Amino acid sequence: MSKHRITLTVNGEVHRLTVKSNELLLNVLRDRLHLTGAKYGCGIAECGACTVLKGDESVMSCLVPAVAADGWELTTAEGLVTADGELNVVQEEFLEKSAVQCGFCTPGMVVASTALLRENPDPTEDEVRDYLRGNFCRCTGYHAIVEAVLAAAVDAQNGGRL
Ligand code: FES
Ligand code: FES
Repeated sequence: MSKHRITLTVNGEVHRLTVKSNELLLNVLRDRLHLTGAKYGCGIAECGACTVLKGDESVMSCLVPAVAADGWELTTAEGLVTADGELNVVQEEFLEKSAVQCGFCTPGMVVASTALLRENPDPTEDEVRDYLRGNFCRCTGYHAIVEAVLAAAVDAQNGGRL
């Protein structure tokens, strides 16, 4: 199996890594960098549990060979929290609206919702539901999640950190 040197910037930290050709970005984040927010759910781009940000765009990290991510700048759910522990508005509203039950989908939901609000600061309920259609939640029934995202949009428009 051939090996490759790659550089990843994750949550502002630069990592130089040697990866195998078949190593997935999700596994590098979880097993090598110990950033376990992104979850392994399906492994085939159907559940959204592995979602991370590449710049401001959401990416399913279970689909990306690590070697293809050379030079990328990524943010995981952990990186949405400031060094002094301040959550972003999406994370705050997920707690406020009780949009978390088992929590397995939550990091992916929060990251995807952050990407949505960076792209579309004032989405309708239908736009939120449509954007999150690739993120599955087995517990909440989605209502609280959608409420949280709409509330986070208002918070961000009022100066909250996204
Ligand atoms: S684990 Fe990546 S989409 Fe399900
Ligand atoms: S809170 Fe359990 S899967 Fe969403």
